Amino acid sequence: MKKVTKVMLLIIIAVVGLVLSGCNQKDVNELEVIKKRGKLIVGTSPDYPPYEFIDVETGEVIGFDIEIAKEIAKDLGVELEIKEMSFNGLLAALTTGNVDIVLAGMTPTPERMESVDFSDIYYTAVQTVIVHADNKDTISSLDDLVGKQVGVQKGTIQAEIAAEIEGAKVKELGKITDLVMELKFKNIDALIVELPVAESYVKNNSDLYLTSITFEEVDGGSAVAVKKNSPELLTEINKTLKRLMDENLIDKFVTEATNNVNADEE
Ligand code: ARG
Repeated sequence: MKKVTKVMLLIIIAVVGLVLSGCNQKDVNELEVIKKRGKLIVGTSPDYPPYEFIDVETGEVIGFDIEIAKEIAKDLGVELEIKEMSFNGLLAALTTGNVDIVLAGMTPTPERMESVDFSDIYYTAVQTVIVHADNKDTISSLDDLVGKQVGVQKGTIQAEIAAEIEGAKVKELGKITDLVMELKFKNIDALIVELPVAESYVKNNSDLYLTSITFEEVDGGSAVAVKKNSPELLTEINKTLKRLMDENLIDKFVTEATNNVNADEE
């Protein structure tokens, strides 16, 4: 090969290498993308009242997570679109860019943090167990769950908690609403959910009962999930969350959403 051709070849290889490494580097600014589009796309799993649930009258997704999403969109100066999906599909939707952020009462965990980033915690709740009212005297402690069918939502921290209960048989389903039906029909014996969710379902279903079983060491803090390496977007979200917490608006949203859950009963 002639010397000149060799040099040319080396230059071409160097240029191609540079271009490719540039492509690998993610320099997309998620915040700009959202602002340019004029719309924030939020993924959620609306089976978790009062966090997010379907308004039976309008068919719309409502709840305190949705109120928070509205505030984030408002502060960004964009419209809001809610995309409904199963809880266990939310993080994939986020990483593939199907949604911009996730608000679903989602608890930051080390595994999740490997694929996405989380905002500050905006709400904390303890884990509880609900049972059929007929079993309220027979299932009142963790030991009573031995040999019992314990229902949990797929892909949640509750699924991890259930796996730790020695002697319990775990049933995982994609939707909390289906698990509630299973409990009502006694196809499962217990269901683990965060306290506000347990209270909502028990209030609306007189055949369900909230036990005093808790898992104190498990923190059920909720945070907004964003794509990895979106510092600009994350900063803006944390700003909105801080404003809402400073103004006590999150508590107000929780109370209002809880009242809306109860109103569905009649
Ligand atoms: N906090 C729990 C978790 O992150 C459960 C959240 C379930 N949320 C829902 N919208 N169904 O695993």
